[in-house]
Amino acid sequence: MPEWSEKYAIGVESVDREHEGLFSVISKIEEAVRVNKNTAWTAEQAILYLQRYVVRHFEDEEALMRSVGYDGYERHKGIHDGMRERVLPRLQQRLAADGYTPETVEQLLRICKKWLARHILGHDLEIAKWVPKKAPPKEGSQRKTAGSDDHLSHLLHPGGRRVSRSRPWL
Ligand SMILES: [Fe+2]
Repeated sequence: MPEWSEKYAIGVESVDREHEGLFSVISKIEEAVRVNKNTAWTAEQAILYLQRYVVRHFEDEEALMRSVGYDGYERHKGIHDGMRERVLPRLQQRLAADGYTPETVEQLLRICKKWLARHILGHDLEIAKWVPKKAPPKEGSQRKTAGSDDHLSHLLHPGGRRVSRSRPWL
């Protein structure tokens, strides 16, 4: 079973932390199911937690793709949609039908982990190529209306509108 390692790092800290978290959550559920074989309720809650984690992570990753203008966005989102709307619900239906047996839970976790590993290497790493090229170097500073970075933005865009309220250089 694949575990998180540096080869999965795409170089965007927030995404890498979530990927690492996903590997870790899956491993923890695997361990819990292995240690305690009679925990259908725990397994059900854990899988629900994992599902919510995956969905939130997809949303974060899709926001990143949009923010950098990634040209493979639609295709990549389509892969997320397939997992989110078809594969996960189907796997969950099977788990519910089987009563969350340890064997079925382990099988689902194996599928999720392998999918995750392949998806990061095959698709998420592609997004990383766009990050330094397309992302503005100081994205956060551009949202400030009046602050310490305004004079810098004025210097970088001399033709732009001057923010009269803020003159930190005076
Ligand atoms: Fe992705």
